[in-house]
Amino acid sequence: NEIRIFSPATVANVACGFDVLGFCLDSVGDEMVIRKVERKGIHITNIEGFDLPYKAEENVAGVSALAMYDAIDVDYGFEIEIYKNIKPGSGIGSSAASAVGSVFGMNELIGRPFNKTQLTEFAIKGEALASKCEHADNLAPAMFGGFTLVKSISPLEILEIPSPQDLYATIIHPQIEIKTSEARAILPKEVALSNAITQWANFGSLIHGLHTSDYGLIQRSLNDVIVEPYRSQLIPHYNEVKQAVISAGALGAGISGSGPSIFSLSQGLETAEKVKDAMSQVYANTDIDFDIHVTKIN
Ligand code: HSE
Repeated sequence: NEIRIFSPATVANVACGFDVLGFCLDSVGDEMVIRKVERKGIHITNIEGFDLPYKAEENVAGVSALAMYDAIDVDYGFEIEIYKNIKPGSGIGSSAASAVGSVFGMNELIGRPFNKTQLTEFAIKGEALASKCEHADNLAPAMFGGFTLVKSISPLEILEIPSPQDLYATIIHPQIEIKTSEARAILPKEVALSNAITQWANFGSLIHGLHTSDYGLIQRSLNDVIVEPYRSQLIPHYNEVKQAVISAGALGAGISGSGPSIFSLSQGLETAEKVKDAMSQVYANTDIDFDIHVTKIN
């Protein structure tokens, strides 16, 4: 009647895949305990790590849980405990991990009546509370794992994209705050056709590179000519980090979600560790604190 789950952090956008592409970090994430109880309703009974609301209607994990609870007709309820490791606002899908975790756990406890796409539909409700708009590029990889492509939101259609065996991510989180709503507000409403052509050529090539484990193609495709020029200005030392990452042998780098975290992809753990040192070096010379992770994509 109780399950303990790991709910992973995720990287959205992945350079050229704004609002549609994402991947899942194998070893960075939250833990949650979900319990089936006699008391009806959704009850958040413990939150550790960060100061978040206990009222289900005001909590991302609670809102997605309530969406699922409304869809099942039962005479019992659920308790949720949240052990939050992913800092809200860090750009690695903190709200998505919460939104996905509660509904995934509840579904396991009641015999899996819903598939992962249906669970993601519930999670979108929770994510919308945090980001004020419905997008699923963090939710989908948190729910399915690996790389995912959100082909459409309505109807929700999610494609699982294979992850090459030897692909590792290095993620640095400089401790500054960027609100997703603000990082969206600065984006242009229209894009030049020439930029759109470059972007969809890169995007298609990146997907092909992931399918064929073509690391060279992945490297040549990890570019963002539409969003990065605007958002990179919000992240101190962004261009230095990118330079350092490329010099250390990474395939490429970009802003993780709406930032401030910066992700980089590498072929092999050894290179990913070198990238970690190179990234750390940039911020070590500043007064900005940071944390950094190397992980497989899974
Ligand atoms: N795709 C979204 C954005 C992810 O970049 O605004 C942020 O949660």
